[in-house]
Amino acid sequence: MKTDVVVLAAGRGRRMRSQTPKVLLSLAGRPLLEHVLEKARAVSDGAPVVVVGARGEEIRARFARSEVRWAHQPRPLGTGDAVRCALPLLDPAARVLVLYGDVPLIEVATLERLLALVSPDTLALLTARCDRPRGYGRVVRDAQGRVVRIVEERDATPEERSLDEINTGVIAFPPGFLHRHLPQLGCDNAQGEYYLTDLVALALEAGLHVAAEAAADELEWRGVNDRLELHDLERLYQRRLARALLAQGVAVMDVERFDCRGELHCGPDCTIDVGAVFEGKVELGAGVTVGPGCVLRDVRVGDGAVLHAYTVIEGPAEIGPGVQVGPFARIRPGTRLERGSRVGNFVEVKNARLGPGSKANHLAYLGDVEVGAEANIGAGTITCNYDGRTKHATAIGDGAFIGSNTALVAPVRVGEGATVGAGSVITRDVPAGQLAVARARQRNVARRRRRDGEE
Ligand code: UD1
Ligand code: CA
Repeated sequence: MKTDVVVLAAGRGRRMRSQTPKVLLSLAGRPLLEHVLEKARAVSDGAPVVVVGARGEEIRARFARSEVRWAHQPRPLGTGDAVRCALPLLDPAARVLVLYGDVPLIEVATLERLLALVSPDTLALLTARCDRPRGYGRVVRDAQGRVVRIVEERDATPEERSLDEINTGVIAFPPGFLHRHLPQLGCDNAQGEYYLTDLVALALEAGLHVAAEAAADELEWRGVNDRLELHDLERLYQRRLARALLAQGVAVMDVERFDCRGELHCGPDCTIDVGAVFEGKVELGAGVTVGPGCVLRDVRVGDGAVLHAYTVIEGPAEIGPGVQVGPFARIRPGTRLERGSRVGNFVEVKNARLGPGSKANHLAYLGDVEVGAEANIGAGTITCNYDGRTKHATAIGDGAFIGSNTALVAPVRVGEGATVGAGSVITRDVPAGQLAVARARQRNVARRRRRDGEE
């Protein structure tokens, strides 16, 4: 049986109190809708249909390059009306899975289990037992335990509200069912909306069966309706990731203070201290230490490297084995720190290669530079790579020694084994092995003492 998937994203999401449409808000660094679409694609035969409304243009623009079929709901008249807006795009011969754009962490395996329950005369509903059912529709069952209907919280009697089985919002419909029954939905309820959930009672009236499958994991079905729920879901998700890393042998110092907003791969025996944030794709080799407060984006870190506290890496960047960075260092795109090199505190590095064993331990700016092996860059060294119009390159040879507070005015080359005296402004190439001193010569001037009373 073919499967079509509809994702509802046309609600106003007013409770978020944001200028951004709700489904574009981030969970673990990606828009809510992106999480849902990823799952939708895994079970859908064609491109998923996404229903958007008033703020649809923004959402479509954000997903312009994704394979999506868009449907428009002119006014947010309820989840049932939203699916009705998608009907023309749905194949009457396909079963239809409805997902909500604000329920981001649903699992593919669960969706597959649910879809397996659908047959031409059976609709399948994903429910969950929970001790905090507030805000969710409740699943009403009869004395025999058969599902009778779903009642929205605002329409529920006090007894119904005390039910602890909720509607997750994920429903799979038999082929043709929506085309036949959606037009029958009314809006005689507390919110004056067309509820998709009313289709459960309608299905039973039409002689169909309703199968209910329970979702085991809270993370999967929690929806995002306000900032606190988004926050709670984020924390739940991050704690889960951190625990998985612990299980894998990574020493995460505090699972409550761990944030991965992308992809993180760790070799054995890594240590991740508190407050580290991972973005994009981060790969840590074996025995890497990530100090407290580090922010790492798009970087590969070699075995045994140590990133001391508050190191910020904005890749793409490559940190070699045994390298030490920080504390308080900023590594920018295009940086390659080779084996055993060292970048210390208050050093900024951009589009640069530091050869094996080279050091820039304190207070420097290294931009557009190639540094060979075993070179020493003194405190306060600046590569003056920008003349106001274009960027220029600097080259520093193996074993060179750049004295403190040197300005290297690019384009310029310092040869192998050369030395630059502290405080120099280097505007011409320094040949290999030579000493360059480019600073005012010191004068010591004897001063005449003033006698008392002298004018
Ligand atoms: C809905 C369900 C509720 C369920 C809960 C699970 C209904 C009537 N209620 O309630 O039973 O427990 O989800 O999270 O379905 N949307 C539209 N157009 C609209 C209204 C909503 O596209 O006119 C979209 C929203 O963008 C959102 C989703 O549908 O992604 C759910 O809407 P929301 O208003 O959040 O419904 P809930 O009150 O959470
Ligand atoms: Ca919701």
